[in-house]
Amino acid sequence: MSTVTRFLLNRTSEPRLQAPAPGKEVLEQAFQCAGRAPDHALLRPWRYLVLEGEALTQLGEAFAGACANNATEQELKKARNAPLRAPMIIVGIASPKQHPKVPEVEQILAAGSGMTLLSLALNDAGFGTMWRTGPVAYAQSVHSALGLDEAESIVGFLYTGSVIAEKPRVPRPENSEFVEYRQSLDR
Ligand SMILES: Cc1cc2nc3c(=O)[nH]c(=O)nc-3n(C[C@H](O)[C@H](O)[C@H](O)COP(=O)(O)O)c2cc1C
Repeated sequence: MSTVTRFLLNRTSEPRLQAPAPGKEVLEQAFQCAGRAPDHALLRPWRYLVLEGEALTQLGEAFAGACANNATEQELKKARNAPLRAPMIIVGIASPKQHPKVPEVEQILAAGSGMTLLSLALNDAGFGTMWRTGPVAYAQSVHSALGLDEAESIVGFLYTGSVIAEKPRVPRPENSEFVEYRQSLDR
């Protein structure tokens, strides 16, 4: 088995993260990897925001602002503190372009593929990552706070840092649960 396959078989998301976050050199290399995502017509329909420090506190305010009007103090506090669970959050943004042959869904898939490659590259460099979304990813007020254009969407918040403690193993599905081998399409 190649080292790449072994690495893929062992990858996990890690929610318990602390400083230090990756430095510029590691990040730049990881973004080069993200830029290798499969991409129909080479539209590059993605961009990333790297948030640290005060930006995470401000993101927490945006998350709290996106809570329902009747949110309790506890819910607001949870939303405000959510981005502080990691020393860095990389916001993956899909930026679809008008194209006669490439529908928006394909461009969002390309941006999602980029997030996966970014995450794997950071893991390979020794950092933990956790891809999160939730209602805040779809809230207009959060989009405005992050400066998204109208056509853009949030692919995910990649919580990034050094792993405090690995999470318990996630049960992995058997291939037979999601793969079918067919020699014919007859049923
Ligand atoms: C688009 C997307 C959004 C996600 N949003 C969340 C989330 O908001 N909260 C969460 O706990 N996990 C979320 N996950 C799942 C985790 O990132 C992770 O994959 C899951 O906990 C399983 O762990 P594993 O990656 O180690 O298998 C999301 C995954 C994807 C692809």
